[in-house]
Formats: sequence, structure tokens, C-alpha cells
Amino acid sequence: MAPQESQHESTEFTKSTGPTEAAEQGRTGRRALLGAAVLGAGGAVLGLSGTARAAGEGHGGGLKTLPVPTVIGHRGASGYRPEHTFGSYQLALDLGADIVEAGDLVPTKDGHLVCRHEPEIGGTTDVANHPEFAGRKTTKVLDGVSTTGWFTEDFTLAELKTLRAIERIPANRPHNTLYDGRWQIPTFEEVLKWQDEQTRKRGRQVWIYPETKHPTYFRGLGLGLEERVAKLLRTYGKDKRNSPVILQSFEPTSIQRLNRLVDNPLVVLLSAANSRPWDFVEAGDPRTTADLITREGLREIAGYAQGIGPTLDLVIPKDAAGKLTTPTTLVKDAHAVGLVLHPYTMRNENPFLPAEFRKGADADAYGDAFGAFRVYFATGIDGVFTDNPDTGLLARQDFVNR
Ligand code: G3P
Ligand code: CA
Repeated sequence: MAPQESQHESTEFTKSTGPTEAAEQGRTGRRALLGAAVLGAGGAVLGLSGTARAAGEGHGGGLKTLPVPTVIGHRGASGYRPEHTFGSYQLALDLGADIVEAGDLVPTKDGHLVCRHEPEIGGTTDVANHPEFAGRKTTKVLDGVSTTGWFTEDFTLAELKTLRAIERIPANRPHNTLYDGRWQIPTFEEVLKWQDEQTRKRGRQVWIYPETKHPTYFRGLGLGLEERVAKLLRTYGKDKRNSPVILQSFEPTSIQRLNRLVDNPLVVLLSAANSRPWDFVEAGDPRTTADLITREGLREIAGYAQGIGPTLDLVIPKDAAGKLTTPTTLVKDAHAVGLVLHPYTMRNENPFLPAEFRKGADADAYGDAFGAFRVYFATGIDGVFTDNPDTGLLARQDFVNR
């Protein structure tokens, strides 16, 4: 059985069934800061042969200093290592990722922030092999979905530190299981220290892209995420407009809350068009993602955020056969109100690619990921989350040299 992930993205695929992804899914000053970045990937052709354009290069720090299209290591380099481990984060930097998604943030029982994609950790750690925690296995309703397993909010940090990370999708990434058991669950505070160490060691600014996961759910448990994130960012001097930390969430009210607490660049994640952010569901707000990506909806987002992180399908929808169709106007519409776009998620393996880019039917084999990157970059997106940052960087090189 697939480890449960989120309503936004399911990443378990098998040879026989193929993709099962149900839904692969202001401040004026801040917006001005991003003005150059909003030029998008099209700016990459302005003359930096072989090198991605640094958006707004030479006009100040922050997001403007990032190459465009920006290659974001999704959960690190999770195509090659168990996700959200320092092994995965470190490799993403070694491969050259512009930003590392470190990490998806969930809380512990004693209020620490740790890096896991979900509060349920049965699929990404060895907790099932710890008899002392057998009694913690339970079923909860998480954002309306009945979920069985072990939950970070039922463990202290000290208890979680006795666990080891494992590969989430061994059917697609059998080689990654070599690394099962090697790394602990990182804390967000460890990530912030690691970021500084790596910046010093590598002589280049390391960027991170943390995400608040299920913020309404956790606030209901008395474990609000945003204040904890803000406190740590302040402690480490990374709460500024130009700090190398972009914050993201699927819940617009989480981003609005962060907007009141810190000055970091903020990104609203967008799932399938017919889905509703869970904070909207809880508040009785009837709007769906389709409403958020209208010009009016995007204008509203631009009032408190600097970017959107849409599912790739919102940029280029697929047909019933899983092939790409015509790009939507989302890139143009978002840019028109000053928002950058960092869609998710590009992965090399066949089942995750649009159907026309698959090679054979093996669930653990690579398809023509370069072909898919080429088509997505051509839409003018400003960056992309990818499990395979090295592939993304080569694809960007191809794109800027085309
Ligand atoms: O954060 C961008 C992307 O990671 C959103 O999807 O479900 O992998 O967190 P998810
Ligand atoms: Ca994420």
C-alpha cells in the first residue's frame, strides 16, 4: 500500500497501473523587488549564453539574484536520496540546485519544527520497526482525509530523533533504499544552521524554501506553525525581505499570517483547479483554486505574496491520455500582477512525466525528462520544483542556449 502523502500530490506509482496522481496536482515594496524576476524565463535569452539570467542581477539582493528559471531541489535531491534528510539536502547543493526545499515543516508534540512532508511518518521513517512506538499508531482525520499511521505531533523531538528516514517510493526509486536508515529527521533549526555552514563552505549563498504543512490542522491542536517559523527566522536573522528564505503554503491564510510576521518572499501553492485550500473549507469560503487563478484572484494574492507555486497541470493541462495540451494563460496572468511562478513537480521517472515523454512502461525507468522540461520552460515559468536538480540544471542550460 502506498504511504499516504497529501491531497495535493500522491507519488506512488506502479508498473501496472501507471500514474495515480489524482491531483498533481502586499506589500508594494516586495512586489517591486520581484519586478525583474517577473520577466520570467523569457529573460533567459537576453544574452547570458550558457548561463541562466539572474533576475534583476545587479539591482539588489533577494529573489532577484536567483537564476531564472530557478531550479529548486524538491525535498532536497529526492530522486536520489530519501526525502527531507541532510543526505538529500546536501546532494541537492552538490548537484547545483539554486534552492533547496528544506523543508516541509510539521511540529512535534513539544513544539519543535521538523522536516517531513506529512505529519504521518509511517512511509518515510522506520517507525514501524520500533516496538516501543507500536501503541502510537492511530487513525486521524487530516484535512478531511482519514489517515492511519504515526504522527509527528504525538512524538517528542527526542523520540523522533531515534528514528531513521527511509525511501518513500521504493517501487519508483529502488536504488534509493540503499540509503534507508542512514539519516535522522532534521529539525528546522538544524536546517537554518546548515544553511549558514554550507554558505560559508561553498562560498555561495545557499537558499532554502520551507513550507508550512497543514497549518489550520496544527493550529487546531495548539501547535501553530507560523509563529514558530517566524521566531526561528528572527533568531537566525533570516526574516528579511532579502533573506535567502522563501516561504510557501497551500493555505492562503498561512501565507497571510506569515506576511504579518516576517518580510520574507512568500509563495501561495495551488493544487488542482477544482480543489479548495483546507483553510477555505474550515472557514466556509467556497472558493476553489479555479477562483484563485482568475485575474481577480491573482491580484488578491499579489496583495500579500510574491509568487505562486501551481501544479504543472495548471500551466499546461493534460488530456485524458495524460498528454500535454495547450498552455493556459496562468503564466501571463500571474506575471501581469507581479507574481512569479514556481510550479511543482518535475521528476525523471516515466509515471510522473506527461505520457508523450515516457519511455516504455517501467515505473522505475527514466523517460524523456529533458523534453518535458523544455516544454514547461518555454511557457515562461520562473522556476520549477524538481526531484532531480541535475537534470533540471542541464535542461535550463539547453533552454538558455537554444
Ligand atoms: O512545495 C512545492 C511542492 O512541494 C508542493 O507539493 O506536496 O510536494 O509539498 P508537495
Ligand atoms: Ca513542499
